[in-house]
Amino acid sequence: MKVYQEKDYEQVSRRAANIIAAQVIIKPDCVLGLATGSTPVGTYEELVRRYQEGDLDFSAVHSINLDEYRGIGADHEQSYRYFMNSHLFDAVNIDKKNTFVPDGMEQDSEKACRDYDEIIRAHGGIDLQILGLGHNGHIGFNEPDDTFAKGTHCVKLSESTISANARFFASMDEVPKEAYTMGIRSIMQAKKIVVIVNGEGKKDIVKEAFLGPVTPRVPASVLQLHPDVTLVGDEAALSEYQGSILKG
Ligand code: F6R
Repeated sequence: MKVYQEKDYEQVSRRAANIIAAQVIIKPDCVLGLATGSTPVGTYEELVRRYQEGDLDFSAVHSINLDEYRGIGADHEQSYRYFMNSHLFDAVNIDKKNTFVPDGMEQDSEKACRDYDEIIRAHGGIDLQILGLGHNGHIGFNEPDDTFAKGTHCVKLSESTISANARFFASMDEVPKEAYTMGIRSIMQAKKIVVIVNGEGKKDIVKEAFLGPVTPRVPASVLQLHPDVTLVGDEAALSEYQGSILKG
């Protein structure tokens, strides 16, 4: 695993954007696996900036997002589709019909998951997968469990995830309790993976996930088995990581 330590969030975002931009330049019709959450916001801002400066062209790019809340639609401000439109898709020249997010309004969860796996398969998998890291080690919404879930599935969100998300909703009742998420197999089959971490709150889980044992109790630990993972973090998030580090 390659680990870049950057001095602050801005530099983390620039580094992550460099890696994504390189992918888009090398393979203009690449498939990007995208994440939501607070961490990649700066990375998307940086990609938008580069697009506006004429340095990036998303017209042939396809994107497949990791996850979506079950029960809220694309027009709900807290849906991940809404997040992606407002932070990236509406601001660059990606063709919206080439952007995929699980359908949170599909009540038949087996169908929703089957359809999404078919989308991933039909695209020939993911060239570059962007990941954030949950405090409990989740990636996408693959929560700690007894086994690694392989395909897209519907998850009951853990208490810690529900409370971390509560800040985005008016009341606890409104916070979604379930989500559709890409499985570990699709993530692990991505050709390249970039994990972005920021802030002191991530330092313990960074250590556990990347230096601890590989276990479905810490889903991100499976990334230790992937041949091409880059971890990009600020000094605080990497302060407990004692492996070898490239300094930005
Ligand atoms: C979101 C996702 C989640 C987040 C994780 C970290 O699509 O897949 O796994 O990456 O919850 O969230 P932040 O970045 O808000 O700390």
